[in-house]
Amino acid sequence: MPPAAPANPALPPGTSLPGHIAIIMDGNGRWAQQRGLPRLEGHRRGVETVRTIVDATRELGIRVVTLYAFSVENWKRPQDEVGGLMNLLDFFLKRETDDLIKNKVRLLTIGHTEDLPEVVRKRLASTIKATETFSDYTLVLALNYGARTEIVDAARAYAAAVAAGKEKLNDSSWATFSRYLYTAGLPDPDLIIRTSGETRVSNFLLLQGAYAEYYFAPVLWPDFSRADLVTAITEYSKRERRYGQTGEQVKPVSASAS
Ligand code: IPE
Ligand code: IPE
Ligand code: MG
Repeated sequence: MPPAAPANPALPPGTSLPGHIAIIMDGNGRWAQQRGLPRLEGHRRGVETVRTIVDATRELGIRVVTLYAFSVENWKRPQDEVGGLMNLLDFFLKRETDDLIKNKVRLLTIGHTEDLPEVVRKRLASTIKATETFSDYTLVLALNYGARTEIVDAARAYAAAVAAGKEKLNDSSWATFSRYLYTAGLPDPDLIIRTSGETRVSNFLLLQGAYAEYYFAPVLWPDFSRADLVTAITEYSKRERRYGQTGEQVKPVSASAS
């Protein structure tokens, strides 16, 4: 028998936890605009929510959390905002690295981080190195990430591997191809949350989310709380994931036997 899961007082008894939660952190700009503040103030507050949600997910026993922090499309924003976001990323890494290590958080990134400012790249590289042996909890930051770019990159890498004789075209399968995605080695997200009330995916984990449950929270990211996270997980836990089968096929044996 596997060891009993640690008690999660914040969750109703019997809640099934998603192994991997991915979050589209949206609504910082509107949060600031509603208060007559500059958009960057919303991003600043959003960083505090990142801290809250990383702590909360870790304490609940979630194993992997992916945060969509900057998309390939976000470079199109005004230069000031892009610069401010890069400064905030630097600030976050500088402030949090010691605690990430203390809390045994493994940090990973997905996306074209080579295009980020050098100071951010250096911080990322050193924090990733300092946390690489941790395995209980993984925080994945999607930075300069776009799912379509990822798919093109994977197709190119796969084709190169075929040309080099490392892969056989006739053996192509999802299991082999998915090893060329940025997320190789990570489980697919079980639950994808988007805040701010928008109900779109915005080029995030299009393939990995093929069987994810989506949860759209009406609150803006700076206001997203532990209680909102618990609501999302509770809702997830009520869903029946069928993977193409019938409801009867996926019902737990104990339920159908009674
Ligand atoms: C999400 O908040 C943060 C990033 C995309 C970096 P937004 O900045 O998109 O906030 P809204 O959608 O304009 O309110
Ligand atoms: C998605 O939010 C990207 C991130 C959260 C980093 P956006 O605010 O950029 O998405 P759109 O433009 O509303 O689709
Ligand atoms: Mg937005």
